[in-house]
Amino acid sequence: MAKKKTVYICQECGRKHPRWQGQCNGCGEWNTLVEETVEKVSVSKRGVSIDSTRGPRPLHEIDSEQEERRVTPDREINRVLGGGIVKGSVILLGGEPGIGKSTLLLQIALQLAGVRILYVSGEESEQQIKMRASRIPYENPSLFIAAETQLERIQHYVGELRPHLIIIDSIQTVHTQSLESAPGSVSQVRECASRLIRVAKDKEIPIFLVGHITKEGMLAGPKVLEHIVDTVLTFEGDRHNSYRIVRTSKNRFGSTMEIGIYEMQGNGLREVSNPSEIFLSNGVEHFSGVAISATMEGMRPLLIETQALVAPLAYGTPQRSATGFDLRRLNMLLAVLEKRGGFKVSAKDVFINIVGGLKVEDPGIDLGLICAVISSLYDVPIPQTTVFAGEVGLSGEVRAVNRLDQRVAEAEKLGFKEIYVSSSQLASVERKYNNIRIIGVSKLEETFKQVFSGSA
Ligand code: TYD
Ligand code: MG
Repeated sequence: MAKKKTVYICQECGRKHPRWQGQCNGCGEWNTLVEETVEKVSVSKRGVSIDSTRGPRPLHEIDSEQEERRVTPDREINRVLGGGIVKGSVILLGGEPGIGKSTLLLQIALQLAGVRILYVSGEESEQQIKMRASRIPYENPSLFIAAETQLERIQHYVGELRPHLIIIDSIQTVHTQSLESAPGSVSQVRECASRLIRVAKDKEIPIFLVGHITKEGMLAGPKVLEHIVDTVLTFEGDRHNSYRIVRTSKNRFGSTMEIGIYEMQGNGLREVSNPSEIFLSNGVEHFSGVAISATMEGMRPLLIETQALVAPLAYGTPQRSATGFDLRRLNMLLAVLEKRGGFKVSAKDVFINIVGGLKVEDPGIDLGLICAVISSLYDVPIPQTTVFAGEVGLSGEVRAVNRLDQRVAEAEKLGFKEIYVSSSQLASVERKYNNIRIIGVSKLEETFKQVFSGSA
C-alpha cells in the first residue's frame, strides 16, 4: 500500500524540506518552495514484480491502430482537436474570464445527446448552470452536473457514474485533502491535474480542464499544466466583440495549425463556417484607409479587413497603435514606406485596426496594410473589389506568401475582382482563375501606381 507524505521542494535546486520556509537551504533562493506529495511505494524484498506482457517491444511489432475519437456535432471543436475527442485524452481550455469557456463546454456537453457526461463546476451552483443551459437550444438527459471542488469526491463521482466524458470547470478551483496549501495554489493545481490525468488514462475517459488566464496572458497556476496535458486550446477574442476563436497551441493528436471560430449569441455560441464573411465589415459606404487582405489562419484562407488612420500629429511624438497586429512590424513597415517610398509618415499619428477582433501574425497582410495607410494618408479609397496578398521586405519589395492558391480561390469565391500578389508568384496562379484578375507587383511604388491610378 502506498503511503503519502508531503514535502516542500525547491523549484530552483530541487532540495527537499520537511516544512515550508521562505528561503531554500540549498541554493538560498527565496519563495521557491512548493508543496508536493510523495508516495512511498513499498517494494517487496524480491524487488519489482515483472509483468512479462509489458516490457519493451520492437517498434515494428506495435500496432499502429488509430486513436479512438468521439466526433462531436460541433465541427469547429472537431477541427481544432484534429477530428474529434480522443479517448483518454486530457484537453486544457484556457481563456480570460467571461470569454465563454463554460458556455462552450456546456454547449458541447448538451449537443452530445445520449453520451454520459459529468460536468463538475467549482465556480457556479447547479441552478446557475441550469439557467445557462436553458439558454442553449440542445438537450442531453445524460448530462450530470456536480457543484464540487474536492478532488476526492470528484473521483468518487467518476467511479459511481462511469461517465464517457468529464468536464472540470475550472482546474483552479479543485483541491485535494492530501495537500495543506490553499485551492488555486501552484501545488494544488498541479497535483489535482496530474491525478485527473491518471483517471483519464486509467479509465480511458477524456477530460476537459478549464484553466483561467490572467490579464498578462499566462495560464494562472503552473505552466507545467501545459506540459502534462495532451492538448492545449485557448479561447480568445474581444469581450466587447461577439467573435471567439479557439486555437490549438499543443496537440498530441493533431495539427496545431487549426482554428475554430464562433459567434457568441443570446442562445450560445454559433459555429462560423464561412469566416471570411464576418471579418469584412460589409460597409455600404466606401471609405479611405480600408484594405482587404487574404490571409491564412491555420489551414483556412481568410479575408480580413485592415483599417488605417493616418492623422496629423496630436502631440510632439508620433503615436503608433495597432489592434490585432504586431506593433513592431507596423513600425518596420512605416520605416520602409518612409525610406523607400519617400512618404512622410514619421510626422503623423498612425492607427491600425484589424476588423473583427482577430490577431493576425501572417506577414502576408503587409501589402494590404501598407496600402490602407497610403489610402488614409491621401484620403483616396481603394476599390472595394480589390484584395492583397503579399509580404513586404525591408527594401520595399513585395515578397511571396505561402498557400497563395488558396488565398486567391477564397477571394474569387467571395466575388472580389482583382488580387495583388508578388510578381514572383504570378506564374504559379495566373491561368487558373477566370473570375478574378491576378496582378503581379514587385515593388511598393509599382503597387501604389496600379491601385490608386484611377483615382489619384
Ligand atoms: P462564460 O461562459 O461564463 O465565460 P467563462 O467561463 O470563460 O468565464 O461567459 C460567457 C459570457 O457570454 C457571459 O458574459 C454571458 C454571455 N452569454 C451569451 O452571450 N449568450 C449565451 O447564450 C450564454 C450562455 C452566455
Ligand atoms: Mg466559467
